[in-house]
This record gives sequence, structure tokens and C-alpha cells, in this order.
Amino acid sequence: MDILLVKETLTRDELSFLISLEGVERDYFLKSVGNKYIETLGKKVYFRGLVEFSNYCTKDCYYCGIRKSNNHSERYDIDDQAIIEAAIFAHENKYGSLVLQSGERSDTTFTSRITNLLKAIKEATNGELGITISLGEQSEEVYREWFEAGAHRYLLRIESSNKELYYKIHPEDEKHNFETRINCLKTLQKIGYQTGTGVMIGLPFQSYEQLADDLLFFKDMNIDMVGMGPFIEHTETPLYAHKDILWPLQRRFDVSLNMIAALRLLMPDINIAAATALQAIDPMGREKALRFGANVIMPNITPTLHRKDYTLYENKPCTDEGAEDCSNCLSIRVEMAGREIGYSEWGDSKHYVKRHGKSN
Ligand code: 5AD
Ligand code: FES
Repeated sequence: MDILLVKETLTRDELSFLISLEGVERDYFLKSVGNKYIETLGKKVYFRGLVEFSNYCTKDCYYCGIRKSNNHSERYDIDDQAIIEAAIFAHENKYGSLVLQSGERSDTTFTSRITNLLKAIKEATNGELGITISLGEQSEEVYREWFEAGAHRYLLRIESSNKELYYKIHPEDEKHNFETRINCLKTLQKIGYQTGTGVMIGLPFQSYEQLADDLLFFKDMNIDMVGMGPFIEHTETPLYAHKDILWPLQRRFDVSLNMIAALRLLMPDINIAAATALQAIDPMGREKALRFGANVIMPNITPTLHRKDYTLYENKPCTDEGAEDCSNCLSIRVEMAGREIGYSEWGDSKHYVKRHGKSN
């Protein structure tokens, strides 16, 4: 095991081994990565205020609670003024960055609205607030338009880098095409976005080897940021039918932390988010991720009224707290995890800075 902790790079077999560790060996692995990583990258943790501004979605992913075919989802769309206010809140509270996320739409009413919104947010925050967007698959022109309007990071999870598994969790059609998704990631990189991706962990039919391949995919793709967390079955989705073959929730949680630690070994200088889904299983889930390799946390600052409706999965945490409560509780939690908050810093991925030689 000690050899794996200092190797230049790791093979698929070595990664599978690390991801599947249990018991005292696992404890040793997680602690060693945590210590090594604090020594090299430091203690800083960056906040991204997350605004889930709409749950209207034109896609039908088999795992997702806001999929188009879920008639039981109460749909909402927060108006621009309220989104801008949330951005000002993030700026005033020294969050450094904002993440705008919604269900996927590509009509021009939507794409132009986002362009205007990005410009308005930049203006309202003196150009100081970093803006990440997570708005799904779009054309190159739209990605460019949004980049020019002020977004500089993009999150688009690949969900699984294994094509066969991808089509077990998505319909196999025009709108859910594996190659298109990969091409979107490449386009985002070409335009100059700091590009983030990620996967769900503990999906039905998923193996340790596939998870190891996911980590190698991030490396091959030269990804700057990763967000990955446990899959949590949602009753109103097709994947719920496979609930009996899923790993127990605790196993999904444990393997998620193993994935984060293994990725930190494989890609020491990228940004890794402590996914909110971790907290749906363990109240201290995100803090644990911060101990073992994650360096980004995304406080939910969506206006409270709508938070309960953005239910990608059930038992989603903090859906009834105001943004202010959330940030107080988070700063205490971050300190408890032995980390420091990088107030008002964009916290760009060091990997990206090395590739492009610039940061704020
Ligand atoms: N369980 C866990 N994560 C989910 N996501 C969507 N549905 C679920 C679920 N049931 C994740 C996907 C998506 C991100 C916004 O939320 O990875 O990319
Ligand atoms: Fe909305 Fe997958 S269900 S993008």
C-alpha cells in the first residue's frame, strides 16, 4: 500500500484496489492521502455559492428526480432579480464564486436569458465574483457566448465514462448521446473554460473497475475540476426498479470517499468538490470528504422557497435552511475538518493555472 501512495501514476488495477478498500487498510489509506495532500496543496477550502435556479428540464435521465417525465415534480423558475440578489449575497459573504445550475434547456429564450444574466451578475459584483455554470449540453456558439458574457468555469458530469453503463442510466437517443457529451467537454476546454466533470458512485450495474476507469478518464481528459458523489435512488425514476441490487447506502458513501482520495493521488493539483449527495447519507459527509482530498464546497444559496423542489435525489440536505444559516454552519464545519476557508478567492484549479498561466 505505501508504494501506491508515492507512485507517479496508478494503473486500473491499483485504482480498483484502492477504491474497494475496507476496514483498517481503508482508514490508513484515507488518512495518508489526507496528510500528504495538506502538505502539498495546503489547508485552503473554497466556497462556491450554488443557485439551482430552475428545475424545468427537457431530458429524461433515468436517475434524476427532475427528469421531464416526472409529473410529480413541482416545477419552478426563479426570476433574474432573485438570482442576482443571491449572487450579491455570495459576493458580500466573500464566497469568491457562484455556481448557476438548472435543468437542461437549449431554446434561445433560455440561452439569451443566461447571457444577459451573466452580464448582470458580473456588473452587480464588480467583476469580482467568479461564475461557474452547470447548464448541460449546448452548442459551441452558446458555450462561447456564455464564456464571453463572463462565465469561466463549466461543470458537466459524464455520469459514467463507460458507454455501456451510460446507456443503462440514460435513454439511448439523440438527446442522451455519450459521444456528444464527451465532445461538449472537449469544446468547453477548447474555448478556455476551466472544465469540470464527474460521476455517480454506486449506480446499479457499476463495478470497481468501471469506477477506476472513470478516474483514468478524468486524467486522460486533462480535467480541471471533479465533483462526484454517491448515487441515491429516487422513487419517481426508472432506476428505482433496480433498488434491490444497489450497494447499501453506507457502502456507496465509503466508496465515494475512497474515490475522492484515489483521485487526489492521481491528480494532485485539481479542484475536487465535496458533493452535497454525501451529506444526504452522512450528516458530516462533506467534512469527511474535505479531510481526505476534497478542497471545494458548494453552500446552497438558492432562495429557500424553492430549495425543496430541486430534488435530484431524495433526502437532500439543507432544503429548509436560509442561505445565511447555511454559510454559518458551513464555516464551523470546515474549521472542524481542520481546514481554512479561502475567503473572496476564486480558488482556481491549480491544474488549470499551470496549463493557462493565469488566475485572479
Ligand atoms: N443521485 C445522486 N446524484 C444525482 N444526480 C442526479 N440525480 C442523482 C441521484 N439520483 C447528480 C448528477 C448530475 C448532478 C447535477 O446531480 O450527477 O450531474
Ligand atoms: Fe435533466 Fe438529466 S434529467 S439533464
